[in-house]
Amino acid sequence: MCGIVGYIGDGNARKIILDGLKRLEYRGYDSSGVAIVKNGRIVVEKTVGRIANLEEKIISLPFDGNVGIGHTRWATHGAPSDANAHPHMNGDGSIAVVHNGIIENYVELQEWLREKHGVVFKSETDSEVIAHLIGVFYKDKGSLLEAVYQAVSMMRGAYAVCAVAAAEPDKIVAVRKDTPLIAGIGEDCNFLASDIPALLKYVKKIYLIENNETVMVEKNRITIFDEGRKRVRRDVFNVTWNADAAEKDGYDHFMHKEIHEQPKGIFETLRRRLDENGLICLDGISLTKEDLFGINKIYLVACGTAYHAGLVGKYAIEKFAGIPVETDIASEFRYRDPFVDDRTLFICVSQSGETLDTMAALREAKRKGARILSVVNVVGSSIARESDDVFYTWAGPEIAVASTKAYTTQLVCMYLLALYMGYTKGVLPEGEYRRIIEELRETPEKLEKFLENEGSILKLAKKLYKKEQAFFIGRGPDCGVSYEGSLKLKEISYINSFAIAAGELKHGTIALIEEGSLVVALATQDRLFKKMLSNIQEVKARGAYVIGIAKESNHEIEQHADYVIYIPETADEVTPLLAVAPLQLLAYHIAKLRGCDIDKPKNLAKSVTVE
Ligand code: G6P
Repeated sequence: MCGIVGYIGDGNARKIILDGLKRLEYRGYDSSGVAIVKNGRIVVEKTVGRIANLEEKIISLPFDGNVGIGHTRWATHGAPSDANAHPHMNGDGSIAVVHNGIIENYVELQEWLREKHGVVFKSETDSEVIAHLIGVFYKDKGSLLEAVYQAVSMMRGAYAVCAVAAAEPDKIVAVRKDTPLIAGIGEDCNFLASDIPALLKYVKKIYLIENNETVMVEKNRITIFDEGRKRVRRDVFNVTWNADAAEKDGYDHFMHKEIHEQPKGIFETLRRRLDENGLICLDGISLTKEDLFGINKIYLVACGTAYHAGLVGKYAIEKFAGIPVETDIASEFRYRDPFVDDRTLFICVSQSGETLDTMAALREAKRKGARILSVVNVVGSSIARESDDVFYTWAGPEIAVASTKAYTTQLVCMYLLALYMGYTKGVLPEGEYRRIIEELRETPEKLEKFLENEGSILKLAKKLYKKEQAFFIGRGPDCGVSYEGSLKLKEISYINSFAIAAGELKHGTIALIEEGSLVVALATQDRLFKKMLSNIQEVKARGAYVIGIAKESNHEIEQHADYVIYIPETADEVTPLLAVAPLQLLAYHIAKLRGCDIDKPKNLAKSVTVE
C-alpha cells in the first residue's frame, strides 16, 4: 500500500528518497513521485508505473537538493496516472504533500476550496485537498506547522501526511492519524517514513509517531507535538533488524527466500517462549491463571493470511484450552456489533501490525471491554502498541506480498497460547502438553528436510501451471490450511482458485468439478483420513486430477489420488505447520512458470492501511 519517505540533511535528497521508496516497493504500488525543495521552489516529478520509471524520468533533470518527500501510491481514489500520483501541490506550487490513507470528507473539502478559494483541482484524488488546505492556511499564517494544524482540524479519515513549503526549506511537517508514521534519527540529517524498512540502510534509531501527533523534522532536530500542540518526549525506539534481512540473498524472489526461512522463524518463535525445562513461558504477557479462568470466549480476528492462521488457531485453542473460539474477518467483526464483554479475550493476528480493519476491530473490542492480546510480527507497530499484551512472532521482516513465514510463526503462537492456557487451567494433562511441545520443537528440522525436496514440487508445477482453476479441500485444521493454500495460488498466479471444507463439497461446489479439474486434497488428519478418501473419490469420479497431501504413513491415499505429496510424520494437531509448505511451493513455482510478478502481485499490497 502507499509508502512515504522524507529526508532533510546535507545529502542528496533525491537519491536517498528514491532508495527508501525502492525499499517500500514490496508493499505494492502503481505510481510514485518525489518533491525536492530548493532555492525557494519545490520541484515535483511523478509517474505511473515502477520507481525505475521515475528514476529514469528525473535522472537528467536538475533535481538535486537536501530536502524532499517521496511517495509510492496504491490507487484508491482515481486510477493510477501521473496526475493522481503524489506529491500533490497547491495552486501556486508553494506547498507539496504526500499522503497515505483516505480523507473521508474530501468531497466537502473540495467544494469549500472551490467556492471560497477558487481552487482548481488537477487530480481525482482525495489527497490533493490536503495540499490546497495547507496552502490556504499558509497564506494566512505564514508557518507550515500552523497551516498543517489548521488543515488537519478540517480533515476526517485516516492519514499520514508529510508536507513541505517552498519558503521553509529547513523543515518537513508531518501528521498522523490511524496510518503509520515514523521519524528516523540520523546524524546531521533526519527522516520520515511510513515503514521501518525504508530507513534501515540509514538509521536504526527512530521515533514512533502516535495517533494525532504532529512532528516537525529539521536537519538537527525532531519535535513531536500532541493533539493539544504540547511538545511530547518520546523514547527512542531501537530497530534490531538489519538491512540484509530485507535482501534477497541469492533467491530470485523474496517469497521463495521467505518460504525457506520458515524453519528458522518457527525455531526463533519457539525459542523465545520455551524455558530451560521445555515449558511455555509467557514472560511480558500479563495473563494470569485467574484471568484465564475469567475468560469465557475468545475472538480471533484478522485479515488475509493472518485470518487463516486464526482458523487453525480455533481448533488448537478449543481442543487444548477448552474455551469457545470464534475466528472472524476484521472487516466483518468491526461492523457487526459482536457479542463482546469484559470476559472476552480478543486476539488479533497481524504480520504488519498496521492493517486498518484489524486495528478498527481491536478498538471496537476494547471499547466493549475485552482484553486485547495481539500476535504481531512488527515490533512497535500500531496494533502492538494498542494491545494489552503482545505475543511477537519472530519471522523477521516479511517483504513478499504473499505471506508465508508470518503464517507459520503465527501458527506457532496459536499453539503455544492454546497449550499454555490449557495447561495453566488444568484442562490439558501434563503428558499431552509435553508431547505437543516436543512435536513443535521437532518441526523446524522436519520442515527444513521437507524443503530440500523442492525439486519434486517444481516437476509437479510444470505439469499444472496452465490450469485455470483449482479447488482446495480439507477437514478440521486442514480446512484452514486449504484456505491458505488457495489464497497463495490465486494471489500470485492469478489462477481462479478457491477452498472449501471437504464435507461441504457436495452441497454445491462439486457441480463445478469436471474432467481435468485440479483438486488439492489435504488429508493429514488421522481421525478424518477415511472421510477425506471418500471426498477424493467423489471428485475423482467426476474426472478431477487430485493432488493428495498426507502424512508419510498414510499410503492408502495413493490408491485414490493422482499424485501424493507426503509430509513428515507428526501429531495431527500440528500438521498445518508442515502441510502448508507444499502449497506455498506449488503456488510459487506455478506463478514463476506463468511469468508472474511474484513478489508484487497486481492490485495487492503488503500492508493494507485503508478500508
Ligand atoms: C494484505 C497482505 C496479506 C496479509 C493481509 C493482512 O492483504 O497482502 O499477505 O495477510 O494484508 O495483513 P497483516 O499485516 O494484518 O497480517
